[in-house]
Amino acid sequence: MRALALALLVAAPAYAQEAPPGASTCLGCHAPTRSDAAIPSLRGRDAAEVAAAMRAFREGTRPATLMDRLARGFTEEETQAIAAWIVR
Ligand code: HEC
Repeated sequence: MRALALALLVAAPAYAQEAPPGASTCLGCHAPTRSDAAIPSLRGRDAAEVAAAMRAFREGTRPATLMDRLARGFTEEETQAIAAWIVR
């Protein structure tokens, strides 16, 4: 019992990890668990790849319907924090 409580205590911070500002909105479209969705999940991707895609959207070098406008709402620093969080 004590071991279980301890295990839960240790595991809790991983679940409670706060999303950086703006990151939870990404999940509204990039649902983490649906692989059949029209908009791909970002879970399990490489964080650097996600950040690079966001940079390309922001700079207009990658064609987009809406990610270009969305990406412009974040600084490079914010983008990297979001990318690191969303792939987990
Ligand atoms: C309103 C829905 C919506 C939201 C919210 C959204 N996206 Fe997207 N995302 C899309 C669509 C649609 C595309 C395909 C490109 C396009 O048409 O703009 C895309 C493409 C991407 C891609 C490229 C995926 C690939 O497989 O190459 C990345 C990376 C991405 N989004 C990251 C994010 C991040 C990070 C956020 C949160 C800041 C976010 N998106 C929020 C709809 C959304």
